[in-house]
Amino acid sequence: MAKFFIDGGARLSGEVNVSGAKNSALPIIAASLLTKKQVVLENIPDVHDVRTMIQLAEYLGARVEFKRNVLRIHTPRLRRVAAPYDIVTRMRASYYMLGTLIARNKKAVVAMPGGCAIGPRPVDLHIRGLAALGTRIEIKDGYIHAHAQSIAGNKIDLQGPKGTSVGATINVMLAACGASGTAVISPAAVEPEVVDVANFLNALGVEISGQGSHEIKVRGCSGLDQGVRYRIIPDRIEAGTFAVAAAITGGDLLLKGAAPEHMTGVIEKLIEIGVRVKLNGRGISVNGHGKKNAVNICVAPYPGFPTDMQAQFMALLATVPGTSTIRESIFENRFMQAIELMRMGADITIEGDTAVIDGVRELSGAQVMASDLRASSALVLAGLAASGTTIVRRVYHLDRGYERFAFKLRRLGARIRRGR
Ligand code: UD1
Repeated sequence: MAKFFIDGGARLSGEVNVSGAKNSALPIIAASLLTKKQVVLENIPDVHDVRTMIQLAEYLGARVEFKRNVLRIHTPRLRRVAAPYDIVTRMRASYYMLGTLIARNKKAVVAMPGGCAIGPRPVDLHIRGLAALGTRIEIKDGYIHAHAQSIAGNKIDLQGPKGTSVGATINVMLAACGASGTAVISPAAVEPEVVDVANFLNALGVEISGQGSHEIKVRGCSGLDQGVRYRIIPDRIEAGTFAVAAAITGGDLLLKGAAPEHMTGVIEKLIEIGVRVKLNGRGISVNGHGKKNAVNICVAPYPGFPTDMQAQFMALLATVPGTSTIRESIFENRFMQAIELMRMGADITIEGDTAVIDGVRELSGAQVMASDLRASSALVLAGLAASGTTIVRRVYHLDRGYERFAFKLRRLGARIRRGR
C-alpha cells in the first residue's frame, strides 16, 4: 500500500493552482445524467472519487470522456437504475444518483451508505425529503428502493438534529427537477457547492431560485433535453489546505484561482493566528513568517469555519505557542488525526466535542496512519513542519480528494515522495 515519505523543515514558496471542487464535481456529474444531451464540465479535479462517480455513471448508461480536467458526459438512455453496494461503499456521494434517477426515471435503487470513519452519518433527511416529494421509499436488503408515480412539488422540511444537510439539500434538489410543480426546500444548506449544483441545474433548463439562502425553490420540468457547458467552482478545502501548508512551514504561497469569498471562515482564523493573507486578482497570497497566536475555533455550517478544515488547523495549532481549542459540532468522531499527531509529539487532549491543543516547539517525524481524507492531509501538513522523516500510511484516502497532492507540494519545495 502506498505511503508518503516526508522530510520536514522546508519552507514552501511559489504558486499553486487550485483544482475544481470535489464536492461540487460529484453531484454535478450525477446531475449530468438528468439530460439526454451532452454535458461538458470544465475544471473537474482528477481525483479517485471523481473516477468512482464516472464509473457509476458509465454503469448506469452514460458515455463519458475525461481528459485534462474536462469531462464530457452523454446519457441518451439509462441502462440501469441501480447503484450497487461495491461502488456506494467506496464513495458515499454515490447517493446523489438517488435524486437523479428519481427525477429522470421515477425509480431508483441505491445501496444504503454505511457509517464511516468520521461518525455514523445517517441519511434520514435524504429519505424524508424524497418521501415528501411523493416518492415511496423502502429499505430492503441494504438497499434504498425509491419509486414515484409522479413527483409532487411540495414543501420539504430538512431540519435535522444537527441543522440541515448539504447532501440531503442537493439530493432533494436533484429529485425535484422531475417534479410537476414547485418544491420548496427549507431549511436548505447554503454551502457554495449547493449553489454550484443549483447554478448547473439552471443552466440545464430547470428553474431554481433561492440557492445560497435557507429556502430553495425548484420548478421541475419533465424530459430535460438540453446540453450545457459548465465550469465547476474552485475547491475551497484544497485551497485552505495549501494555506495551512504555507502557515505551518513559515512559507509564502499564492493560491492561484482560489475563491476568497468562499473562504471567509478560514481566512479570518488564519489572520487571527497571525498569518498574513492578501487577496489579489489572481487568488490569495498567504505568508506564514513570524509569530503566531493560539486561537479558539468552533466548527459551523457555511459561512462558518468548515468541518473539512478542522484537522488541518489542528496540525497547525499543534505548533503554535499557547493553548488553542477546536470544537467540532457537525460530526461526532472527527478527531482521529489527534492521536496520530500526538505520536509526532503534539500535546492534545480531547474533551467531548472539543480538542484542547497546547502548542509545542517542534513536532518530530514518525510513522502515522491516515484514517480519512482530511485527517490524512493534516498528517502530511504536520510532516512538512516536523523535524526528521514522517511516513504517512494509507494515502489512498488523500487520492480520493486531492489532485496530485504530493506533486503540487513538491513544486513548492516540499520534500515529499510516494513509495511503498
Ligand atoms: C458534505 C461534504 C463533507 C462535509 C459536510 C459538511 C460532500 C460529498 N461531502 O457531507 O465533505 O464535511 O458536507 O459540510 O459534499 N445528517 C443527518 N441526517 C442526514 C444527513 C446528515 O443527521 O440525513 C447529519 C450528519 O450526520 C452531520 C450533519 O447532518 O452531523 C451534516 O451532514 P451533511 O451536511 O449531510 O454532510 P454531507 O452532505 O454528508
